[in-house]
Amino acid sequence: MKIERLIEQAREELITDIVLSDEFMNRMQENFLPIERLMSYYRCAIMEVETKFRVLNEQFSLQYDRNPIETIKTRVKSFDGILKKVKRKQIPFSLESIEENINDIAGVRVVCSFPEDIYLLAECLLQQDDIRLIEKKDYIKNPKPSGYRSLHLIVEVPIFLENEKRPMKVEVQLRTIAMDFWASLEHKLRYKKEIPEAEAVQMAEELTECANVIADWDKKMGEIRNRIERYSEEKDE
Ligand code: GTP
Ligand code: MG
Repeated sequence: MKIERLIEQAREELITDIVLSDEFMNRMQENFLPIERLMSYYRCAIMEVETKFRVLNEQFSLQYDRNPIETIKTRVKSFDGILKKVKRKQIPFSLESIEENINDIAGVRVVCSFPEDIYLLAECLLQQDDIRLIEKKDYIKNPKPSGYRSLHLIVEVPIFLENEKRPMKVEVQLRTIAMDFWASLEHKLRYKKEIPEAEAVQMAEELTECANVIADWDKKMGEIRNRIERYSEEKDE
């Protein structure tokens, strides 16, 4: 994308109160190419992490005849998403600062059928010797007040360039199909500004109830799965 278009987009979509001063514009021009390179490194890091999960899924399907992963979704944070975060966190607009302070530029979301598999996969990933755990937030054991559940990991993974090995940060979100379904609906509500306040509050409360019901069902379904598996193991013996 052309730098002019990016600036125009920043003007349109970004908080209109941001001052696009000459200094800001100059820095954007200076930083543009290096930013593109950095984004490409994040895309490489996503490939590395996604492959690790695909390999684990393959191995589990051979060894235990089960696929713990339903889907993997990946994304690199958009340019205006990064700008918004720079502004919200009040961090300097430089490459070093963006890389240092924003942990979710590369995102990998792993959707599983059962909560148990989330922990199994996280453990398998974290024990790999090229993965460094930076931060872990367990919103399954400690859900957010909204009811949001997922296991979040910020990990560092090396990417191998022509003459360099470069560690990159990736945010991994692991959740069940049901948690994912809930989060996308709740996200819609969160960003619909036209809904009258009282009604939005009401819907948010109902969603929190749904999140609890979903967590119970996830657990029950997992228990049933385990009972079925025990039965098939006995038959195999
Ligand atoms: P951000 O600065 O927004 O990235 O938050 P954070 O650094 O405190 O990270 P946190 O681990 O709390 O959340 C990061 C991501 O998790 C968000 O960008 C969402 O994708 C997701 N998330 C967290 N809380 C909620 C929630 O209440 N509802 C939904 N739908 N998603 C959430
Ligand atoms: Mg985020």
